[in-house]
Amino acid sequence: MAQRRYRTDQIVVHWNSERCAHSGFCLRNLPEVFDAEAPPWVTVDAASADAIAGAVEGCPSGALSYERLDDEPDEIPDEPVTIVPWPHGPLFVRGTVRILDRHGEQFPTGPRVALCRCGQSRNHPFCDASHAEVGFTSYPRVISDQRKEAESPADLEPR
Ligand code: FES
Repeated sequence: MAQRRYRTDQIVVHWNSERCAHSGFCLRNLPEVFDAEAPPWVTVDAASADAIAGAVEGCPSGALSYERLDDEPDEIPDEPVTIVPWPHGPLFVRGTVRILDRHGEQFPTGPRVALCRCGQSRNHPFCDASHAEVGFTSYPRVISDQRKEAESPADLEPR
């Protein structure tokens, strides 16, 4: 696992490779700072601390986080928690959640996390972008007539 830090007098940006889902939001939101092809991939002095904080908060996996070193506040987690099923990709979770393994051990998380729903991640329960490799397809939500008319669970069959 790589934990990288990029610092100015105003802000420290952290990047946790273990949590990166390759969504590319940072690259699109602030390309003058985030460029995966140009080491160091975070040029932390290329934009204001506010702009960087905004872009970091747009990282749905939580691989990016920041600490403010000036008088501005750190990120405030969303309340209530939201979960967005991303088309053909993970579940994007925003807000403070506790994620436990089956033994009750807590995974380290933060205010954002991307959870695998394709079943192919090698970093469960987190998305590691394997969904793209395997061509995972999510379908629009459809409530079947069978479900609408069911009288009991016995009337339901798996799709
Ligand atoms: S949804 Fe991304 S690896 Fe499964």
